[in-house]
Amino acid sequence: MLLCPVRKLLQPVVDFGSLVFFERDLRQRLAQRPPAKGFIAREAYAVDLDLLNGMEDSAARKQAALDRLRRGEHWFVGIDSRTGELANYRWVSYTRGFVPEIDRYFVLKPGEVYIYDLYTLPRFRRHGVDAFVRHSVYSYLQSTGINKIYAYVQGSNVASLRAARLLLRPLGRVWYIRAGKHPPILIGARKAGFPELRHDPAGAETPLRDLAGNSWVSRVLR
Ligand SMILES: CC(C)(COP(=O)(O)OP(=O)(O)OC[C@H]1O[C@@H](n2cnc3c(N)ncnc32)[C@H](O)[C@@H]1OP(=O)(O)O)[C@@H](O)C(=O)NCCC(=O)NCCS
Repeated sequence: MLLCPVRKLLQPVVDFGSLVFFERDLRQRLAQRPPAKGFIAREAYAVDLDLLNGMEDSAARKQAALDRLRRGEHWFVGIDSRTGELANYRWVSYTRGFVPEIDRYFVLKPGEVYIYDLYTLPRFRRHGVDAFVRHSVYSYLQSTGINKIYAYVQGSNVASLRAARLLLRPLGRVWYIRAGKHPPILIGARKAGFPELRHDPAGAETPLRDLAGNSWVSRVLR
């Protein structure tokens, strides 16, 4: 934690930190789902982009979301069931994932997914929405035949590390240091089962998703 202010100060010249990688084997049963506490978990589509309206940089966020949907990624949200507001979201990639801190890509095998860009809007934090949506998404993925989830969390992000540990198993921590535009240096033991991280996406291009084929009826995750 003490590293954080030092890191911010040095960031334009040199960036360093650690990333904790996690996995979930979905062939094993999930623990009981936490209570919904007034939230609905569902998949979201292009028609739902206005959910991002209240957020900072909403136009850029909408464009990024559209690009991701076009790449075939899936968007899952937690909605306040009283007001319909967006409370939480996460993205799921079925082919690969970029890890910007270390300039590497996860390369996924069939049946594996990478979950990223997980967020609870500040006014909804510590109300259990992440725990509820996380469980709903994992159990939905399990029901569609996915057997492995990968994710990573910055080593200094205490809230997210704790939230991740509720359903994910840590695979190891990688430290990185990068000076200016030089490639990052990685340090850290990687246990068996550690995901493959490559410099290039290895041609794992995702087919464009047919947005017109998306269901316009929201599918609530059960
Ligand atoms: C991490 C984050 C998604 C958690 O969302 P949330 O909806 O507040 O989480 P929940 O209320 O469902 O809490 C689930 C568990 O996370 C942990 N947790 C959440 N916030 C925490 C905090 N501030 N400090 C310590 N642990 C925390 C707890 O273990 C909690 O379980 P508990 O309440 O039974 O103790 C949210 O803090 C967030 O969006 N942070 C900013 C963005 C971010 O860091 N994203 C993750 C990038 S990898």
